[in-house]
Formats: sequence, C-alpha cells, structure tokens
Amino acid sequence: MAARHFLTLNDLSSDELESLLDHGTKLRSEWRRGIVRETLKNRVLAMIFEKSSTRTRVSFEAGMTQLGGAALFLSPRDTQLGRGEPVEDSAIVISSMVDAVMIRTFAHKTVEQFAAASRAPVINALTDDFHPCQLLADMQTYREHRGSIRGGTVAWIGDGNNMCQSYINAATQFGFNLRVACPEGYEPDSKLLDAHKDKVSVVRDPEDAARGADLLVTDVWASMGQEDEQKAREKTFRDYQINPGLMNLANRDALFMHCLPAHRGEEISADMMDHPRSVVWDEAENRLHAQKALLEFLILNRLD
Ligand code: CP
Ligand code: NVA
Repeated sequence: MAARHFLTLNDLSSDELESLLDHGTKLRSEWRRGIVRETLKNRVLAMIFEKSSTRTRVSFEAGMTQLGGAALFLSPRDTQLGRGEPVEDSAIVISSMVDAVMIRTFAHKTVEQFAAASRAPVINALTDDFHPCQLLADMQTYREHRGSIRGGTVAWIGDGNNMCQSYINAATQFGFNLRVACPEGYEPDSKLLDAHKDKVSVVRDPEDAARGADLLVTDVWASMGQEDEQKAREKTFRDYQINPGLMNLANRDALFMHCLPAHRGEEISADMMDHPRSVVWDEAENRLHAQKALLEFLILNRLD
C-alpha cells in the first residue's frame, strides 16, 4: 500500500482530521497522567530541517521518544542534501531506512518531490506555502477550550503567509468562516483564495476581521527567508497588530492564538501573550500531542 503523506491539511479527510484531534487530546491526557505508551517502539522518524525551529524539532523528537521510537535530526550542513544530492535520490535512500520523514524547507515543491519518491510517509513541517502541523495543534487547542469551531468565525490579522494559507485549508476542512485582514499586496495565493471563496474573505481593516470573531490569530510580519524585508514590512504592517483593543471587538469568549515565535511590539502588543484569552502556551504544547497522533496515524494507520 502506498504511504499516506501529510503535506497539507487536504491530505486527510475532514473526518480523519477530527478523529486525529480527539486522539491528540486523549494522548495529552494520558501523558499528563504519566501513562507510558510505546506504540512506535523501534520506529524511526527522520527530521530534515532546512530552516530553524524550536517547537517543531522538540515536539517531534520528544514525541517519538515518548512513543518508544527515535528521531534523527538531519541538517543540510551535515547531509549530502546540502551538497546537491537530488531530492528524489535522498528520498529513496532515507525512506528505505526509516518509518516516516518530516521536512521543514523553503519551496513547497521540495516536499512534494520528496513525497513522490518516498516509500515512507512524509510530513510537511513548514514550507514557504503551508504549515499544516501547526493547524492540528491550533484546532486541537480551540476544541479543548471551546468545543467545535464548525460554523464559527476566525480572524487572521497580518501577512497572507504559510500559516494564513493553512488556515484557509482549515476553514474548509473544519467548517469555519475565515476573514483575512492584510495590507494590499500581501494577500494569500489567489488560486487558493478562489478555491475556498465560500469560506474565506479578504478585508483591509483588522477591525472588520475581528468584529464578532471566535478566534483571532496572527503570525510574524516577516517569515523565515524574508529577513531582508523586515524593515519595510514593519512599516507596511504597522496597523496589523493584535492587542487588547482589537480583542475587545471579538466575541466575549474569543481566543487568541499565535504559532510563535512572536515579536512583541510588532504583530502583537507586549501584553497579548498573557492576555486572559490567550492560549498560546497550550497551543505550543499541543504540537507535541497532535503530532504524536499524526505519527501514529501515518505509521500505524490507526487512531485508538
Ligand atoms: N510554530 C513553530 O513551528 O515554531 P518553530 O519554528 O519553533 O518550530
Ligand atoms: N510564518 C512563519 C512561521 C514560523 C513558525 C515562518 O515561516 O517563519
């Protein structure tokens, strides 16, 4: 049987995603009670990182260890990938020795090429276009705090980047309305917007997006790989900040999320991380639990 991959949220059905979140919550509660679970004993995850990471690396590595397996950290500095060995050749070789491969890279095409040649499941751990693992954690966190988000409204404030584009996929998969507030020229991909136009709208004014929303989300103004644009983006995005004033326009029980790392004073005011409706620390922790559920699903083809 061909391996299932997780390159975007569209690789799983809506029902599979919902079950995966339930399973993530169960794993979280078991782990907190100290229950030992060794479903991935002797299994190995290869982790290819072409960009920096704190949460993604720690959660995948700790997750594999907690499930009885192991994870290998592979950086382009130390592997032949960094010296030009073709992605497909690397995929054939690496996937012949491990049970799953996780990749964080620049071009989304790279994970697609790797997956096409890989015998083992491939997980997208962030590309320039998508960050689906973060959405698993975000959706699990929302459910744990507020129940299902189906029929609700999410406001995305800021750049139409990889996180925003994963929220667009999530809008369809999890059945919520998404309002994206971004400056002109920083919209998400137009084809993606078009494919999800019944669920997603783009506005200019952050207040129009936030009013009556159930969840406010943002991310850095300049993503990894856009460091040269930082100064220019600080000017363009000046009005695209989530702060307590903007939160007050949202529903009374609205939550605030940020995938982190955060830049206080830019996309969020300094007081947002610890705002009473901020769930950023649970959101970060849930990377661990949601991805353990994902690893079991992809490697063992089960969620129980
Ligand atoms: N949110 C997230 O993916 O964080 P890292 O870049 O630290 O992995
Ligand atoms: N949009 C950010 C997300 C980091 C987790 C980036 O790509 O750098």
